[in-house]
Amino acid sequence: MSSTVVTHIGELVTNDPEAEDLLGAIADAALVVEGGRVAWVGPAAEAPDADEQIDAGGRAVLPGFVDSHSHLVFAGDRSQEFAARMADTPYAAGGIRTTVAATRAATDEQLTSHVARLVAEMRRQGTTTVEIKSGYGLTVKDEARSLMVARQFTEETTFLGAHVVPEGDPAAYVELVTGPMLDAAKEHARWIDVFCERGAFDEDQARAVLAAGERAGLKGRLHANQLTFGPGVRLAAELGLVAVDHCTYLDDADVDALRDSGTIATLLPGVEFSTKQPYPDARRLIDAGVRVAIASDCNPGSCFTSSLPLCVALAVREMGMTPAEAVHAATYRGAQALDRDDVGALTVGRRADFTLLDAPSHVHLAYRPGVPLVAGTWVDGRPV
Ligand code: NIG
Ligand code: FE
Repeated sequence: MSSTVVTHIGELVTNDPEAEDLLGAIADAALVVEGGRVAWVGPAAEAPDADEQIDAGGRAVLPGFVDSHSHLVFAGDRSQEFAARMADTPYAAGGIRTTVAATRAATDEQLTSHVARLVAEMRRQGTTTVEIKSGYGLTVKDEARSLMVARQFTEETTFLGAHVVPEGDPAAYVELVTGPMLDAAKEHARWIDVFCERGAFDEDQARAVLAAGERAGLKGRLHANQLTFGPGVRLAAELGLVAVDHCTYLDDADVDALRDSGTIATLLPGVEFSTKQPYPDARRLIDAGVRVAIASDCNPGSCFTSSLPLCVALAVREMGMTPAEAVHAATYRGAQALDRDDVGALTVGRRADFTLLDAPSHVHLAYRPGVPLVAGTWVDGRPV
């Protein structure tokens, strides 16, 4: 088995949970990769020999970003809706239906090539693991094919038939989602998600969908408390879900419930950027002992960015996170939010998924917002 050493790394972020600092950062470091996994990390001066050598030239190496929340399977364009929002038309859940019509009309090939383009865009910005949801088909056939398209790119696929009621009676639609749609979707999905929000699904409907998903072998996650205060975050905590996403509007009981349950709060700062809503208060959550992840939520409506570097910068500037906390949230916590212990860190045995930054440290991701700092991305030890 051939090995590669990446050496002269100015700052190696390992996310080693045993380290004294949050990022387990090593200065003047080296990383050895063998068989797609991390085989050794430590000071460059002590690195073992390897078959190949990559010189990082004093630049930083980070674990690849783990984007635990995206909606990449869609067709159509909603840039006019964004422009209207910037002129102060508020975001509403109903905009999803515009994308549903365009997605149903698209061919499988069109959907696949669109996802491929967005995943390539993510890779160029350092994302090495991505979760992809369905949710713009909302018929048995269109949800199943959305998941089949997503599966070509990731194991982390999520059935989101309960995104919005596309048409007709809500009760009948929940029956469809928990019955025939779930039956068609389950073999292509690992997760099940519900948009629990005003204008989408209420608490009882969310419970019913998550319970049906669990019976079908899917693990639950939730969109909650995005547009206003509501029951979703407490429901996620009560059910012991691994993560609940958005968490923009939280009262003290929500924060306590997250802390006590250990459910990860996944914050999506690109959404607040693109909807002009107030940013969630990451500082309050972290200080209360809640685990916080950051993801892109890349989707055509509330946030069309695929860039975790942008989300990290926003989290630092607008949500009270330190650069180290934001990078950790977009890597290590992202992996935890997907219940993954093989990615999100560069410790021995984990997948060799990493990025080389054109910068000396992780701080530059927030210090130099909007600058394409990712010089290279490796997945399973191979450049992509
Ligand atoms: O995560 N919140 C629900 N779903 C997406 C938005 C979908 C849309 O507007 O198309 C989100 O923000
Ligand atoms: Fe979302």
